[in-house]
Amino acid sequence: MLIRRRRSWELPESAATPEHVFLSRRALLGGAAGLVALAGAPGLAQAQAAGDPAGDPTRDLYPAARNPAFTVSTPLTPEDVSANYNNFYEFGSDQMNYSIARIAARMPRRPWTVKIDGLVEQPREVGIDDIIRAMKLEERLYRHRCVEAWSMTVPWTGFPMKDFVAFAKPLSGAKYVQMETFVNPKVAPAQNRFIYPWPYVEGLTMAEATNDLAFLVTGIYGKPAPNQYGAPLRLAVPWKYGFKSVKSIVRFSFVAERPVGLWEKVQGQEYGFWANVNPQVPHRRWSQASERDIGTGERRPTLIYNGYGEQVASLYSGLEKTEKLFM
Ligand code: MTE
Repeated sequence: MLIRRRRSWELPESAATPEHVFLSRRALLGGAAGLVALAGAPGLAQAQAAGDPAGDPTRDLYPAARNPAFTVSTPLTPEDVSANYNNFYEFGSDQMNYSIARIAARMPRRPWTVKIDGLVEQPREVGIDDIIRAMKLEERLYRHRCVEAWSMTVPWTGFPMKDFVAFAKPLSGAKYVQMETFVNPKVAPAQNRFIYPWPYVEGLTMAEATNDLAFLVTGIYGKPAPNQYGAPLRLAVPWKYGFKSVKSIVRFSFVAERPVGLWEKVQGQEYGFWANVNPQVPHRRWSQASERDIGTGERRPTLIYNGYGEQVASLYSGLEKTEKLFM
């Protein structure tokens, strides 16, 4: 059912790296397993234990009560399908064949600190468990639409991003929140290659970040999220293409200038800041009119704002003429 495709929305490695560097690095490293060994990663068994969600110190908080306000009409994607179909480029670009899940499993989940800085009352670093325990976890069923025209429906557990914004205490000059993923080439093999400008960065306006739908995810299917989903903390903004939903966050910066995300840096004509789902605005290289549900294998029409227009369309009124809201 899962057809192996070339990942057409990324730059080929050879296009972003001078050819001699690309060729010699390939010859030297020869694949993800070699990269991990070269980087001196811990033994496999030890690394997998550190990355195992069964040992997560917050597992007593699961399952969290489902919030009935956030439900869906599409069927839930089976766990074994969504857990093995992931985009997490730090761990490689082979979305299928279980490889992202397998490699990501070696990432230690603790210690994990989150930096809160920029325009806030008090910049600080907080342990992830202190953040999670300060919030009230709930489960929400969300649709998830990737810019590559596949989709799934999953039961996330987490907390409203607006609660985290209140916890961070931004100053009035903060207009955006910028989020960053960890950088640790010892466990994330692709960070040894300089194809992408790591860290993975994404941003939201303050109005988006405090919209009811913006959700910070800690778990899935009633358990702490396995690493490949972006443990221990990732974003879910279901009205936007999936690349906005940054994984394994280590930093929230409240800023006055619009952040430039990793994909915008790499391919700004195709991936922008807003990235709201719109079936009528094609990607430069393919249509966005429909999507393939990775759970059922069926193709269905894509909806404006991925079906969440009622909750979010008002965020963008007046911006249509000046902003590229749908890329
Ligand atoms: N976050 C980081 N740090 N690295 C990534 O490669 N991929 C993005 C997004 N967040 C990505 C990321 C893309 S393209 C998508 S579609 C979603 O994560 C995929 O989330 P999933 O694997 O949980 O479905």
